[in-house]
Amino acid sequence: MIDTKNETINERVDSLLSKMTIEEKVGQMNQYNGFWDVTGPVPEEGTAKTKFEHLKKGWVGSMLNVRGTENVKEVQRIAVEETRLGIPLIIGFDVIHGYKTLSPIPLAEAASWDLEAIEKSARIAAIEASASGINWTFAPMVDISRDARWGRVMEGAGEDPYLGSKIAKARVKGFQGDDLSKNNTIAACAKHFAAYGFSESGKEYNTVDIGTSTLHNLVLPPFKAAVDSDVKTIMNSFNELNGVPVTASKYLQRDILKEKWGFNGFVISDWASINEIISWGHAENKREAAKLASTAGSDMDMEGYVYVRELAKLVEDGVIKEEILDDAVRRILRVKFELGLFDDPYKYCDEENEKQNIGNKSHHDAVLDVAKKSIVLLKNKNNLLPLKKKGQKIALIGPLADEKNSPLGSWRLGSDDNTAISVLEGMQQYKENTLVFEKGLDLVEGNTAFTQQVNINNTDRSKIKEAIAAAKNADVVVMVLGEHGFQSGEGRSRTELDLPGLQQELLEEVYKANKNIVLVLNNGRPLTIEWADANIPTIVEAWQLGSQSGNAIANVLYGDYNPSGKLPMTFPRNVGQVPIYYNYKSTGRPNKESHVFWSHYIDSENTPLYPFGHGLSYTSFEYSNFKIHGEKFSINDEIKVTVDLKNSGEYDGKEVVQLYIRDLFGSTTRPVRELKGFELVPLKKGESKTIEFKLTRKELGFFDNQGNYIVEPGKFKVFVGGSSTTKLELDFELTE
Ligand code: BGC
Repeated sequence: MIDTKNETINERVDSLLSKMTIEEKVGQMNQYNGFWDVTGPVPEEGTAKTKFEHLKKGWVGSMLNVRGTENVKEVQRIAVEETRLGIPLIIGFDVIHGYKTLSPIPLAEAASWDLEAIEKSARIAAIEASASGINWTFAPMVDISRDARWGRVMEGAGEDPYLGSKIAKARVKGFQGDDLSKNNTIAACAKHFAAYGFSESGKEYNTVDIGTSTLHNLVLPPFKAAVDSDVKTIMNSFNELNGVPVTASKYLQRDILKEKWGFNGFVISDWASINEIISWGHAENKREAAKLASTAGSDMDMEGYVYVRELAKLVEDGVIKEEILDDAVRRILRVKFELGLFDDPYKYCDEENEKQNIGNKSHHDAVLDVAKKSIVLLKNKNNLLPLKKKGQKIALIGPLADEKNSPLGSWRLGSDDNTAISVLEGMQQYKENTLVFEKGLDLVEGNTAFTQQVNINNTDRSKIKEAIAAAKNADVVVMVLGEHGFQSGEGRSRTELDLPGLQQELLEEVYKANKNIVLVLNNGRPLTIEWADANIPTIVEAWQLGSQSGNAIANVLYGDYNPSGKLPMTFPRNVGQVPIYYNYKSTGRPNKESHVFWSHYIDSENTPLYPFGHGLSYTSFEYSNFKIHGEKFSINDEIKVTVDLKNSGEYDGKEVVQLYIRDLFGSTTRPVRELKGFELVPLKKGESKTIEFKLTRKELGFFDNQGNYIVEPGKFKVFVGGSSTTKLELDFELTE
């Protein structure tokens, strides 16, 4: 069947391309930052004057950080009405976890394992952003990372490629919807291609040197899932990979992405990452950087001023072929056509739509729903939670307890400061208890418009005594501690993963006064809370949950929502264990010995504090009747696995049933466990259900060191349960 829609677009693209000068082609490959928000260092050329001049000449194909219908209309008008060909701009923005109404940070949302809720959250973000003139988001970030020191783990889906791939797909679908030409769907961008999450020692923008197995089995799968979901754009990254800055990597961008995977959207550089090829020591100057990046398949230059300055000359001098420009421009124009920008360049600029569709009640209800689902109950000794709703004296303590800014998290330029519901406000809704609030410690603002920096007090102990007094008088103490929303995110790597500032001291002092503590963590990454785990009876991981944060937390504390989240990233005991992850390799000396010559530390357990997939509920779940259906299987069979799940506790609840496999002997060694299936199962109190999984070639194979997907016959184990450490296991064997 002929795809008439696409054919028309391709024809329109070719016809337009044939009219374009080299300068105009280069213009399409050039993206400028707007005049307001700045999300990276601005090059010298980056003045408003240059931008306006270039816009008018048709030398700009896209802008980022322009928002609001009025502003977008203004720049779009110049592109459409004042340039020779009138090609509309594509308007990009970091819509990472919502636009004005904020969902939980992406790492938190990943903890919901609820693909429907995640898709919906992206849908709402797209509705709000598009109503504000934006038609392209720089999301989802699909970087797998095993290193909690890296500040950007808050932006991703955690450590696992299987979960990460499912979430990548849900987010792309949420942003792009079923029809990109509607005015409330926007183009998505899977980033950062590739391996940025493996920055050495978790240090931001650092070197990445990983092997082919890690690249193909861990890093690339979520990008492939995004491409298979028809993601329209891919952003490359700041890091080098095995000696080549990825912006200049032909292997990644042309060989894998565009040729092997058949990606037909376009690649945008990261902010000035084409320039950074020079600082990496891979290109001597901008001319060479432009040559390397364009040849390698970076189609658009984000705020780098390299393409606009160098590319036309490179073509005229015969150094690069005009086909390189044609290929890039075709890709860019195609996305613009698909978005319907040529039919109506102002389709995202309807002021009425902007008024009605941003920050409305239904969006707040939806982000509250996903916020509740993102909370993980790490520990609940003596069932301190859920809290009783009447007759209790509750002391609410902590520098983050009344915070209305921190819960919004990092990456939320479209939202307004101090608009989150705080935990204090959430808990005040439960009026039949007595609530006393003491901050204990202050936040220290080092805040400037862009390099937002906030620390938690590490010198002033003056408020700790009031916190202790409040705790002494309370039946239960709820402490809200962790990281401020601006202590994770881009440029916020940490060498310690403890509670910043004097929070550990505050926690220990309050504990001396009252041991009935519910510790609510707000943070953008796994933390090392070994002392808290050993001493504090109840710990709730509540991340940074966005606009409705405090309501979500209060609902969970009071049992109006039974927590169902599971960790998408391992929590280490200490920083020395990092990187730590559930899908590790056995090593040659895995077993505990009476001597020292086995794979371990002499000063720490090997095990994490909380494993990947861990999360408790107020109810309990029983697994039974775990079965593999059939005895012998060949590599092309579908293997049916079932298990019965019973809600055996006192509350209705939800369990994320997880399935892991282990391929026992491989031509390259396989991890001790790999997630290959999961289902979020709601069960009423007393109810049971049989859960079924299917294992096929897609789940049973892996990528060899040449990047080929293979399935090998041999012995396997399959595990089922409520976390990556489940003990329920069965064996099976695959033959040719
Ligand atoms: C980040 C990208 C982001 C871009 C534009 C860069 O610093 O790495 O993820 O999309 O800025 O704001």
